[in-house]
This record gives sequence, C-alpha cells and structure tokens, in this order.
Amino acid sequence: MRVDIVTVFPDMVRQAAGASILGRAQASGKIELHVHDLRDYAANRHRSTDDAPFGGGAGMVMLPAPLFACVEAITGGAENVPVIYTAPDGEPFTQSVARELSAEARIIILCGHYEGVDERVRQSLVTREISIGDYVLTGGELPALVILDAVTRLLPDVLGNAASPHEESFGSGEPGAEVLLEYPQYTRPADFRGMVVPEVLQNGHHAKIMHWRRTQSLIRTRERRPDLFAKMLPLSKSDQKLLDAHDAEKSF
Ligand code: ADE
Repeated sequence: MRVDIVTVFPDMVRQAAGASILGRAQASGKIELHVHDLRDYAANRHRSTDDAPFGGGAGMVMLPAPLFACVEAITGGAENVPVIYTAPDGEPFTQSVARELSAEARIIILCGHYEGVDERVRQSLVTREISIGDYVLTGGELPALVILDAVTRLLPDVLGNAASPHEESFGSGEPGAEVLLEYPQYTRPADFRGMVVPEVLQNGHHAKIMHWRRTQSLIRTRERRPDLFAKMLPLSKSDQKLLDAHDAEKSF
C-alpha cells in the first residue's frame, strides 16, 4: 500500500514513522510512505502556505493553491485516489474506518494546521474528513500518524506472529462484528511483590483459561465501555452464563 502525507512538518512525520513496526513495514515494502513538504508547493519566495481569513478573525487559513498543486503532483492526474483531511470536525476514526482504508491501494493524507484549510480544499480536493477524537490538537501530523499506524498493522504480514488483529479489543472492525475489550495479560513471575497471577492461568487447563478470558473481556467491557456492551445485547447463552457465574461469585 502507498501512503502520501502532506505536511508543513515533514521531519516530524518521517521520524515518527521510521521507528518500530511502522519503520519495519516500510523497510520490507509492505507500506510505501512518501512525506511531502507543503512548502515545496508554495507560490511565493517566502514559501507561504497560509494567509489571513477573509472576513477577519484570529488565526491563519491554509492556502488552497499549494494543497491543490501538491495533490495534483502526487496523483499525476489519477482519479479515485482517496484524499483524507484530518480535522476535529471530521468523521470519528474507528477500527472499521482503519479496515476500510487498509483495503485501498493508496491514500493521501493532508495534515491541517492553524485555523484549518480554505473551504474549497474540503469541497473539491478532499474525499474524506477524519477526526481521531473529541479534543483539539495543534496540527494534523499526529492524527495522520495515528491513521497510518492503525492502517499499517492491518496489512498482511505486518504483525508477523504477534497478536492477530481479530483477537483484540475492537476486533476485526467489520460491520456487525463483535466489539469486546481485551482480557488482562500476565507474564513471569507468578508472584510479583505479593501480586499473584490468577490460579486458572497458571494451571494450563485450556478450556478453563478460555472461559476466564472471555468472562474478563465481558466484565471489562460492561464496566468500562457500557456503550459497546449495549451493542452486544442480548448476550449469547454462553456469555450470559459466564457473566451470571461471575456475578454470583462476586455477591458472596
Ligand atoms: N486536528 C486537530 N485536532 C484534530 C483531531 N482531534 N482529529 C483530527 N485532526 C485534528
């Protein structure tokens, strides 16, 4: 998959994307990342990429010309390349959006800044606007990296023998798929400063471990994300049985 990121802070994006699994995915060619300095597409000698808003007011607005020129240079006129703009008023980024994007041959991500971009960019250049959460960041670089990370790890052979994306919190992200938080994990030692790993995990009884993990996922989801839990209702008979058994034990 090819990802082009358009930014006024190319070093920040390159650095962050060069480490860990993202770096390896690039080195092995699973992802082809191109980071573009928007200033290279500025029309004046000051390399300006923003200007004051028409109508007055605080802040600066990103100019349409450099963004259009940069995207046109990237696509070379090819149509149907998704152009994503990161903004707090975009569509919420979820695992299913990550899965949709990971099925594309290529995407372009525009990192917003200042008071945002000229509206004509959003209307005529951008195909999808994405927010990574209900808070405001200083720029779109971190959101672009979040999207890149979530998409890259879904590509075939990127995670190697690490956890399958299907067995973790937020599951496959496919429509209608079950969304359950992860169960707690432990490693050695079995007793750390008096905090002891649950007995069931230590004795290696596979079916009992599966039941314990499923129960933990259910109670975690019920406690921490009642919105996700509500979507699972009514529970399957077996899940209801596990929860009932857990709740009965707790009430003693
Ligand atoms: N730019 C600033 N804040 C943002 C957010 N929460 N999501 C995406 N882009 C942003």
